[in-house]
Amino acid sequence: MIRVLFVCLGNICRSPTAHGVFVEQVRRAGLSHLIEVDSAGTSSAHQGEGADPRTQSAAKVRGYDLSSLHSRPLSSGDFDQFDYLLAMDLSNLALMQQMAPANHPSCVRLFLDYADSELNEVPDPYYGGAKGFDQVLDLVEQGGVALLEHLKTTHRL
Ligand code: 4NP
Repeated sequence: MIRVLFVCLGNICRSPTAHGVFVEQVRRAGLSHLIEVDSAGTSSAHQGEGADPRTQSAAKVRGYDLSSLHSRPLSSGDFDQFDYLLAMDLSNLALMQQMAPANHPSCVRLFLDYADSELNEVPDPYYGGAKGFDQVLDLVEQGGVALLEHLKTTHRL
């Protein structure tokens, strides 16, 4: 099993979007039995909450149902349990690197490093308008395709 954890600040906008989109991309590729997906936040401020209603609405328009996802904080155990811990932006990445136990075996990097996108960070949509949530979906769909190709090649799936 290959375990992938998407990480943002609140785990209510960007990482739940990546979580729901990547689950669907993995399912369509017939790889659900080999790739496990989860998400978490560097902050516990929204612990237990569902994804932001704006995130859920934007995702629903493209056919993704995020209603079962709830925010949880990143824990040090995640660095042992997941193979890939993928940050949405550089500030998430810096916090993850600070939190990572010494000699953890996982790969910790920016999600969009795998993609051929203009941006290497998924911008935080929380304080902006509806366009920001669509941009998150665009970037996450693009990043997910690239990540899946990487996993297929690296792990010979
Ligand atoms: P996320 O977005 O990190 O993509 O889940 C945010 C959610 C909440 C806040 C900021 C960003 N907040 O400040 O509460």
